[in-house]
Amino acid sequence: MKASAIAHANIALVKYWGKRDNGLMLPHNGSISMTTDDFAAHTTVEFGVPEDVLVLNGTQLGKGTEEYDEYVGNFLAALREMTGRRERVKIVSKNDFPTAAGLASSAAGFAALATAVNEALGLNLDQQALSVLARRGSGSATRSIYGGFVEWLRGSNQDGRDSIALQIAPPSHWPAFRMIACITSFQAKKVKSRAGMSQTVKTSALYKGWLDSVKHDLDAVRSGIQSRDFSLVGRTAEENCLKMHATMMTTRPPIIYWNAGTLELIHSILDWRDEGLECYFTIDAGPQVKIMCLSKDAEEIMKRAKEFPGIEDVRLARPGPDARVVREHLF
Ligand code: DP6
Repeated sequence: MKASAIAHANIALVKYWGKRDNGLMLPHNGSISMTTDDFAAHTTVEFGVPEDVLVLNGTQLGKGTEEYDEYVGNFLAALREMTGRRERVKIVSKNDFPTAAGLASSAAGFAALATAVNEALGLNLDQQALSVLARRGSGSATRSIYGGFVEWLRGSNQDGRDSIALQIAPPSHWPAFRMIACITSFQAKKVKSRAGMSQTVKTSALYKGWLDSVKHDLDAVRSGIQSRDFSLVGRTAEENCLKMHATMMTTRPPIIYWNAGTLELIHSILDWRDEGLECYFTIDAGPQVKIMCLSKDAEEIMKRAKEFPGIEDVRLARPGPDARVVREHLF
């Protein structure tokens, strides 16, 4: 009844922004990401304890806290409804990167939690079913069940059974792909993705245009990954990121995740590209800039990013592995 798992954050190349069903966590659009080999969440669960307990990065977060009620509480309710199991659970989880600062901490966390729960309860779920379970914790966690390059299908079923993740290609398919995460601020963001996307769906005049353009981006990025066409993947992912941020900025009240460092880095990346250094940027619900490049240019870009004023940390990520069960328990 006790098990542990590790999963890694993923960085979206075609973004997920907006739900058609908030309870079942069903997206309005499909998305594609790369699971990283960095940004790991390690989670241990034990069922059969007197009451539900969550300890996240050393802090106990009980009922009444946002982390518990909106995230873990929802996940446990979904788990109990799906399996009929009623045992109480202790969950201890730790991230090796800043939580809630636009680095997909919930993706790694819930992929690890779903994987650990599956092992501890002996549910024998395969990876597709695990992706459905992880989705009930956080949408982007659907994709972190698999390593490499992953698509989360929108699906069309009302019950969400076809809103699953599929692996487009394992990490060995494109080992030269790099994401350089440039941390422009360690502060937790003011607007969480969940609240932000729901407000965007309700109020942004650009949201319909976003949805109309996603199919093109999914097809381009999927085929670019399959043929290892870096220019096609990079260009499409960068455009897709800007379209998502345009819907965020035109939300009422406006959601502007960028800070001055984010914007300065964007301009520099465009200049570096004009000089012939091929790289593209993507940004999630936070101020961090992730630079996509190939291994041959990674050292030069890392050097420039580290020297860049206002950048607090720079981390290099490669295509990483599946979420997996590990023996090391956190308690
Ligand atoms: C901008 O998965 O964090 O990173 O499903 O409400 O938990 P919830 O949201 P979350 O949103 C991620 C949004 C994004 C884009 C992406 O990862 O596709």
